[in-house]
Amino acid sequence: MACFFRRRIAAQLGCTLQQPEDAFIPALAAVPVFKKQQSADFKLSIATLRMSGILPSSGDIQLQAESLAARVRFMTDDLKRDSVVEDVSAGRGVINFKVNRKLLVQKVLESFGKEEEGQFGLNSELLNTLTRGTTLVEYSSPNIAKKFHAGHLRSTIIGNFIANLKQCLGNNVIRMNYLGDWGMQFGLLGAGFAKFGCQEKLKQNPLQHLFEVYVEVNKDVEQNEEMMQAARAFFSQLEQHDSEAVSLWQQFREITVDEYQHVYKRLGVHFDIYSGESFHQQQAQQVVQKLQSQGLLKTSEKGTGVVDLSTAKDMSSVSTVLRSDGTTLYITRDLAAAIDRKEKYHFDEMIYVTDKSQAIHFQQLFHILLAMGHSWADRCEHVPFGLVRGMKTRRGEVVFLEDVLDEARARMLRNMNQSKTTKETVNPEDTAEKVGISALIVQDFRGPRESDYTFDWDRMLQAQGDTGVFLQYTHARLHSLIQRNEGVAAVLFDPSHLLEQTSVPVLQHLLRYDEVLYQSAKDLQPKHLVNFLLKLCHLIASAHRELPVKGSSQDVAQARLRLFSGARSVLANGMKILGITPVDQM
Ligand code: ARG
Repeated sequence: MACFFRRRIAAQLGCTLQQPEDAFIPALAAVPVFKKQQSADFKLSIATLRMSGILPSSGDIQLQAESLAARVRFMTDDLKRDSVVEDVSAGRGVINFKVNRKLLVQKVLESFGKEEEGQFGLNSELLNTLTRGTTLVEYSSPNIAKKFHAGHLRSTIIGNFIANLKQCLGNNVIRMNYLGDWGMQFGLLGAGFAKFGCQEKLKQNPLQHLFEVYVEVNKDVEQNEEMMQAARAFFSQLEQHDSEAVSLWQQFREITVDEYQHVYKRLGVHFDIYSGESFHQQQAQQVVQKLQSQGLLKTSEKGTGVVDLSTAKDMSSVSTVLRSDGTTLYITRDLAAAIDRKEKYHFDEMIYVTDKSQAIHFQQLFHILLAMGHSWADRCEHVPFGLVRGMKTRRGEVVFLEDVLDEARARMLRNMNQSKTTKETVNPEDTAEKVGISALIVQDFRGPRESDYTFDWDRMLQAQGDTGVFLQYTHARLHSLIQRNEGVAAVLFDPSHLLEQTSVPVLQHLLRYDEVLYQSAKDLQPKHLVNFLLKLCHLIASAHRELPVKGSSQDVAQARLRLFSGARSVLANGMKILGITPVDQM
């Protein structure tokens, strides 16, 4: 629907400037809605036209805007060529277009009837310019038996958002969890388990117990050289596939994956593939051989195997891929994993979601892959994010993700019980869980992804502020409004009932939906969509206040319901892309 208007405006511009209309599409955007109702719906950026060579890039930009606006206006007014555009005016460096109000109502709302649920805005020219294919998204990727820290939670929800977004834009998405299930920590854990472990406890509270053992053994090795030797021995048994060592390792891994799956389910996250570093230890050795045969492997003074990454080829910047004892490293396994994934899944792009401290690791990874002749490494991307400060629960510092989810649920449940607006819900625990998780997600997604932020339980759970609770509350309200009026809503409605101060901004805002998804697909920042939905909720709140359904005439009620149900469906779709399950009651 936004396309319909963009097309018509572009056609008019094309006519005025004697240029192909397509040239204007990238310069056109829906105008973001501010507090008051505004008259313009679309704006044309003069700077963009200058950049694409349609307008001369010299001269006063404002004069250019004014003269072009005058020319377009002349065409519209005098030739009466168009019934779509109602007004054309020059703004600061832009030309503003106001479209016919009734048509605005009609086009936006009729697309809800026509398109399948969940498809609103997706059938868009703008979105069609994005390349589609197979996208492998690797996210979450915790380390077995180590702490699941806030970074892993961020990776989980940001990766899930990216996967959802890519999927809704028509890509074939492969969701992968790459577990840190190999390395010296297993030597420690294996040896430590012999001393501090207990199979009984492992069955009862697996993650907790593994973590206890891990903490104990780490303390122990500091004073106890024998423990370190035992750990090395265990790891080397593991590397040599000693069956006893392998079976203990396997038990640790399975237990942990089971537990994680349970938590992922609560979060509404799933993976198509659970891979891990352990899968690639043999291939990692092959990668080293390949590097050698390609002449890319150098030996450092310390006797380690390195790849020279410097432009001058003077070893001023290297990446270590082989320890002096011949064992491989994190990056070596990542090289093997990337090559293996390309062979197995034929992805067109691959995305890694981790905290920003790993940026250099991924730069080096892609660099080496390219040097090896894997040109597809150009289509691999590291999506970094910032740190979370102060993620604590009542039990203190967070060790397990589950504790965060439990606390979010408990706090939300308490807030719901204290709130006057809370309805009797069928399953308050379940509602509190979903709303609590939305609060976590929105807090995380509001700012730029790369920024650090401070975790704040009270702020994120506020019902009024820009929070996940507010999104859910708005959704539940709309849902019950629609349900209460079942039978009133109609396919046909009269657009003239929706030309109000508070309804037009909702529609104008919806015009931006495809642009917001487009922007999100370009930079993989969840903040665009979150802020779009929060804004939508504010606009809905005003509309809801001013435009009652109950007590209005049948015609008016029908039109208003149409608006509210359209808004509800965009809100629900957007929330689902973010990884939030909309609740119907709260
Ligand atoms: N397990 C790693 C960690 O916790 C993250 C893995 C990221 N993915 C990768 N392919 N290196 O730091």
